[in-house]
Amino acid sequence: MNATGDKRPVGVLGLGNMGSALADRLLDQGHKVTVWNRSAAKHEAARSAGATVAGSVAEAARSVDVLITCLSDHQATLSVVQNDEVAEALRGKLLVQSATVTANEACELNAWAGANEIAYLDGAILAFPEAVRRGESIFLYSGPRKDFDDNRDVFAAFDAEPLFVNEGVGRAPILHKAVLSGSLGAMLAFFHGAAMCRAAGLPIELYASALLADLGDNLSLFTPMLASRRYDENIEATMEVWAAGHDMIVSTSEALGVDSALPHLLKRYFEQAIAAGYGEQEFPALSEILWSDSK
Ligand SMILES: NC(=O)c1ccc[n+]([C@@H]2O[C@H](COP(=O)([O-])OP(=O)(O)OC[C@H]3O[C@@H](n4cnc5c(N)ncnc54)[C@H](OP(=O)(O)O)[C@@H]3O)[C@@H](O)[C@H]2O)c1
Repeated sequence: MNATGDKRPVGVLGLGNMGSALADRLLDQGHKVTVWNRSAAKHEAARSAGATVAGSVAEAARSVDVLITCLSDHQATLSVVQNDEVAEALRGKLLVQSATVTANEACELNAWAGANEIAYLDGAILAFPEAVRRGESIFLYSGPRKDFDDNRDVFAAFDAEPLFVNEGVGRAPILHKAVLSGSLGAMLAFFHGAAMCRAAGLPIELYASALLADLGDNLSLFTPMLASRRYDENIEATMEVWAAGHDMIVSTSEALGVDSALPHLLKRYFEQAIAAGYGEQEFPALSEILWSDSK
């Protein structure tokens, strides 16, 4: 809310699939929304939805308290915001980068913002546009806590409990990539198991529901182990037992004629973990092979 109790005016740069969803959701939640898009083709839909279409990025920046950028990437963002007119229009306001960027790119935009007395927050999005429109998205914010708290009403438009990662600029983009790594890697393994089922004529729906239950159990058991980095307590199965079971995934996959690069990769990690002395510990000790502060 601003001083008069109204919801803050918010700007959205970029009306692609995600930017238009951000604008729609903000309008739906009662914000006055000003948008800008490079090509005019997308202006009419935004106007019909109730947004004000700005003639330039600087004009959009002048008319809002918070400006959310949702262009394709960092370079596209820099190409439209990094100039004196926009810097002047944004002075004392908040800039939120919601495009998918790296931590270094976030720091570069933050440095430009800081040099121009513009507050900056990372706002990494973990959702599809339709979920954003329904207010069911996950956004990950990082940067100064005060700027997050002062603008919570804007962020609450996207998620009733907006998620503040920490004060380190670039940390939300890293968490975003970590989640995507977990999710995309899990999807590859999911597709591999599905290919095994397909090759054996087994129902994919049955496979998916059994996998979901198994994954839930594993996440509950392994998350505290990963957080504490203790893999020698509450052991359900040792690394040796997991590795022996995994050998049969490799042989079954090969017997079915399914590409086995993925199980071979995990087999190599099991061997490394056991060679490093983790054979009698739980499976997540394998994460120490991927990264260790002792290296
Ligand atoms: N879609 C998703 O499910 C999703 C989910 C999470 C995060 N994201 C992230 O959100 C960002 C936008 O994704 P999107 O799906 O909305 O992409 P999109 O539909 O391809 O839209 C891209 C937007 O960037 C603009 N743009 C590209 N290059 C530009 C430049 N050089 N100067 C000015 N404007 C430029 C485009 O303008 P024109 O219309 O003029 O081409 C358009 O508004 C990406 O970083 C993406 O990773 C997307």
